[in-house]
Amino acid sequence: MKYDITTMGSATIDMFVDTDIAESGHMICYPVGAKLTVKNMQFHIGGGGTNTAVSFARLGLNTAYLGKIGEHFKKDILNMLKKENISFVGKVTDDMNDYSIILDTKEHNRTILTYKGANNKLMFKDIDTINLKTNWFYFCSMMGAAFATQIKLSNFAKKNNIKLAFNPSYYQISKFREELYQILKNTTILILNKEEAIGLTQNITKKEDSKKLKKFYGKNSRKNMIDLIKKIHNAGPQIVCITDGKNTTFTYDRNTLYEFEPHKEIVALERTGAGDAFASSLVAAIAKDKPLDFALHLATINSESVIQNYGAKNILLSWNKALKQMKKYPLEIKKSIV
Ligand SMILES: Nc1ncnc2c1ncn2[C@@H]1O[C@H](COP(=O)(O)OP(=O)(O)OP(=O)(O)O)[C@@H](O)[C@H]1O
Ligand SMILES: [Mg+2]
Repeated sequence: MKYDITTMGSATIDMFVDTDIAESGHMICYPVGAKLTVKNMQFHIGGGGTNTAVSFARLGLNTAYLGKIGEHFKKDILNMLKKENISFVGKVTDDMNDYSIILDTKEHNRTILTYKGANNKLMFKDIDTINLKTNWFYFCSMMGAAFATQIKLSNFAKKNNIKLAFNPSYYQISKFREELYQILKNTTILILNKEEAIGLTQNITKKEDSKKLKKFYGKNSRKNMIDLIKKIHNAGPQIVCITDGKNTTFTYDRNTLYEFEPHKEIVALERTGAGDAFASSLVAAIAKDKPLDFALHLATINSESVIQNYGAKNILLSWNKALKQMKKYPLEIKKSIV
């Protein structure tokens, strides 16, 4: 079996606890020794690796998920993947799964208790590279030993003519800026947001952060963005896409610069998963041999679907539904040779 795409990233267990407890100042206070009844609890499987796998599968790609998961929640994760038609090609371990407890207050603000477990322990030897046949890899942000595994797997991809899409996080870039370039040289499509793009090309120490960022947000920002995107493009990726929330997205493919803004009428309810939906949809369209402007349009439509609804993957669209939405909401993309 050859997959269209294999996503590599985290699978997390997210427990949403609606405490209905009022905040006091900027704190949520729980009395020691008490047993408190909570209003509501919801259990979700999240994490970049599984969320993007769902996005790809719904868009009609034959999809596999590669990651390390804990024995304890194996059943829940595998059932979800099965339901979404995704194959599991990762490793199960006795380690605890990555797990977050999201404590919601009466005023609906959150405190998150998060545990980093199995995800970051994925080793290259855990991957059955001999039997894993895929046209594409899609890398989400991974830390610890799993980051070293991503470097190795990117070399494996290059050697075996497997295309690679990469969507790093700010955290990953700030920890592994230099090492990350080893992946960039093997990358086909790189998608990242503006802060991440700046962080990738400049050694930002905390204090200088805002000063340097400001420069890019300043008057010459278009020119700076073009310089920035070309510089990143030079590091290896064939296509570089820099998003910026509701502001202009810049995409560069060696010849052409694509610029557009998301639809103005979008009311953002919940931003979780916007970046994942955008990046995975862009890659899905390219993997289906669609032109870049079509891919950007699809990515915009799918991310807008996510931010207008609650829940990171509940509203990820099917290919046909996305096409309908694309007809309904055209997107003006400016192309220029730079
Ligand atoms: N407020 C918004 N209004 C309209 N579209 C948005 C908004 N926020 C995000 N989007 C869409 O989602 C895309 C990706 O968002 P963004 O640049 O915030 O990515 P990100 O910072 O990687 O997000 P994430 O935190 O989810 O990883 C944008 O290019 C845009 O198409
Ligand atoms: Mg992101």
